[in-house]
Amino acid sequence: MPVQRTLSIIKPDAVAKNVIGDIIRRFEENGLSVAAMRMTLLTPAEAGRFYAVHAERPFYGDLCSFMSSGPVLAMVLEGKNAVKLNRELMGATNPKEAEAGTIRADHADSIDANAVHGSDSAENAATEISFFFAGLDIQS
Ligand code: CMP
Repeated sequence: MPVQRTLSIIKPDAVAKNVIGDIIRRFEENGLSVAAMRMTLLTPAEAGRFYAVHAERPFYGDLCSFMSSGPVLAMVLEGKNAVKLNRELMGATNPKEAEAGTIRADHADSIDANAVHGSDSAENAATEISFFFAGLDIQS
């Protein structure tokens, strides 16, 4: 299993619920380490650039509004198979379909306010990490 990096975002709903610590605990207890961390308030335009791949989807406008509605915590997670492992810990995008015990099952309210984002491939992880972090700010 390769050591990988992936991007995680704790979304505005989970930041507002004060569950940052619980979410990071799950990452750490399952073999992922925080290699970089940044709390920021995205503008709608910045959220739009981050989610540009979804620009043609009907939910794009709502997604950009939501992701700029409050602070987010962006993190680089590092560990064996980090991309897949992070997505397993998050659970399905729609919390109604998320397996019990996953972050979204426990903390998400809806498909929009779904607590966390995680890169879906190693290639997209590299692009998403560079959106938030300079190489010098990522520790191994
Ligand atoms: P995320 O993993 O951050 O990637 C894109 C986000 O769009 C997704 O989580 C959801 O919060 C949001 N979204 C809203 N509606 C949908 C949908 N029908 N399919 C996928 N993502 C959606």
